[in-house]
Amino acid sequence: MGDATTTGRPETARADAGLEKAGLRLDVDGAVATVTLNRPERRNAMTFDTWRGLAAIGRSLPSDVRVVVLRGEGPCFSAGIDLGMFSGEGEGFTDGSDAEATDRFIAELQEGYTWLRRPDIVTVAAVHGHAIGGGFQLALACDIRVAADDVKFCMKEPALGLVPDLTGTKPLVEIIGIGRALELCLTARTVHADEAARLGLAEIVVPRDGLDGAVGDLVASLLAVNPGAAVATKRLLWEAAENTLEQQCAAERREQIGRLRQLFGK
Ligand code: CAA
Repeated sequence: MGDATTTGRPETARADAGLEKAGLRLDVDGAVATVTLNRPERRNAMTFDTWRGLAAIGRSLPSDVRVVVLRGEGPCFSAGIDLGMFSGEGEGFTDGSDAEATDRFIAELQEGYTWLRRPDIVTVAAVHGHAIGGGFQLALACDIRVAADDVKFCMKEPALGLVPDLTGTKPLVEIIGIGRALELCLTARTVHADEAARLGLAEIVVPRDGLDGAVGDLVASLLAVNPGAAVATKRLLWEAAENTLEQQCAAERREQIGRLRQLFGK
């Protein structure tokens, strides 16, 4: 998909065409990149191309981008996987008979989500309306979720005979705990805004017409922080869950030495 910035170069036009086919739009404005799920007529349902397009955006993001916002065009964030693919529309489904090939295939799609945890960027999901299945998992892949009060999260996969496999199970359990994660996934029920805020699935909940403003304020606050300190702190916080206290104390010392050297020019 090549360079995915918006600079008017020929390779950029090709990248834009690739993203359009993937149902995505990328707008880069200085340190802020906005990725828009852009198939509103299909409720931003996602195809394999969408996930590959997301991975391509992650690979080609300009190095001065510090914040990435993910949002959905139209009435909702995303209705999850494009159900047309189950009935043979577009690229067909693998039947899983070749386990190694299927493993590689799913790993390629997961790359569309894993880059969102990179420490050099902060990722913000601006979620309104339905965020179902792969859409819910995309929001979970982001560092911070800002939700409109009409948000509806649903992990629909088990109801369709599948498991959530787009990196969502780990953040879900880390955020809401194993019991609640089991209850939500195995009933495929919908979580509305009040409960989402209570469970920590959304850090900020605002009225629907205030979503863009709230995201803009958050982005401004994130950009106001020292860039190097932001990168080091994100790295540190993501390590915390896996580390012992001793390992985490050592990680804090290591990062602080880096910061001190940077600040005092050693
Ligand atoms: N795939 C393909 N098309 C979809 C779609 C989807 N997931 N969701 C909606 N659409 C299409 C509809 O077919 C409809 O198309 P037409 O206008 O041509 O009829 C159009 O989008 C508008 O849909 P609705 O009229 O249903 O819109 P709504 O606002 O009333 O309802 C909705 C929205 C609740 C999201 C509903 O469309 C819905 O339930 N969609 C299916 C959701 C779903 O089951 N997704 C799969 C999740 S599991 C997953 O994602 C698996 C994975 O990653 C592995």
